[in-house]
Amino acid sequence: MSKLPRVAVLGATGAVGQEFIRLFEERDFQFASLKLLASKRSAGKKVLVKGKEYTVEEAKPESFENIDIALFAGGSISKTLAPEAAKRGAVVIDNSSTFRMDPEVPLVIPEINPEDIAKHKGIIANPNCSTIIMLMALKPIYDISRIKRIIVSTYQAVSGAGKDGIDELLDEAAAIAKGETYEPKILPSASLPKHYQIAYNVIPQIDVFLDNEYTKEE
Ligand SMILES: NC(=O)c1ccc[n+]([C@@H]2O[C@H](COP(=O)([O-])OP(=O)(O)OC[C@H]3O[C@@H](n4cnc5c(N)ncnc54)[C@H](OP(=O)(O)O)[C@@H]3O)[C@@H](O)[C@H]2O)c1
Repeated sequence: MSKLPRVAVLGATGAVGQEFIRLFEERDFQFASLKLLASKRSAGKKVLVKGKEYTVEEAKPESFENIDIALFAGGSISKTLAPEAAKRGAVVIDNSSTFRMDPEVPLVIPEINPEDIAKHKGIIANPNCSTIIMLMALKPIYDISRIKRIIVSTYQAVSGAGKDGIDELLDEAAAIAKGETYEPKILPSASLPKHYQIAYNVIPQIDVFLDNEYTKEE
C-alpha cells in the first residue's frame, strides 16, 4: 500500500475548497487518492486538480471510508459529517467554527502549537482566518512578554461569506455602475432574513447577533 495519504476535500466547490486545490498545485502536495465532496447541488461537476479531472460527489457518511485526511470546508455540515469521518478512521481538519470551542478538539495553528495535534481524537479544528493571521504576528511578542488582553477590530472581505458573497459584490457593483437596482440576497449572511448593500459599503455585522450584543464571529 502506498504511504501517501488518501485525501478528501469537503466543500471542494467553495471559496476555501478551491483554495485547498490551488495549494495542492502550488506545493505539489502528494496524495495516493483524492475525493472531492460537496452538496447534492454540485454532484457531477468536474474539477481539474494538477491536470487531472475529478468528479465532485455528494458528501455522505460513507464518503469517508478509506480516507486518511479529510479537509473540511463545508460550513455547518461539519457537525454531522466530521464525527462520521472520524468514526471511519479519517483525521478531519475542520475549517468551520463547529468545534473551535470544544474542549475535546485541539484548536491548532501549525506554526504556533503543532504539539496539540497529538491530542486529537479524529478531529482537529483551526481558528477563524483573521485570528490565525493576527496570532502569527503576536506569538513572537507573546513569547518575549506575555500578552494579557487584545482589543481587536477586523475589517473583513466579502470572501468571508464564501463564493456567494464574492459573486454578490461583483454583481451588485456591476449593477450600480449601470445605474440598475440590485436586490441583496446574501450579505451580511445568507441565513439572515434581511440583507444589505455591500458594494461601496461596510456592514458592521458578521454572522448573527448574540445576547451579549457581539456578533457570533466576534
Ligand atoms: N471564506 C473564508 O475566508 C473562510 C476562511 C476560513 C474558514 N472558512 C470557513 O470554511 C467553511 C467554508 O467556507 P467557504 O467560504 O468556502 O464557503 P462557500 O464558498 O459557500 O462554500 C461552501 C462549500 O460547502 C459545500 N456545502 C455546503 N453545504 C453542504 C452540505 N450540506 N453538504 C456538503 N457540502 C456542502 C458547498 O457545496 P455546493 O457547491 O454544492 O453548494 C461548497 O463547496 C465555512 O465554515 C467558513 O466559515 C471560510
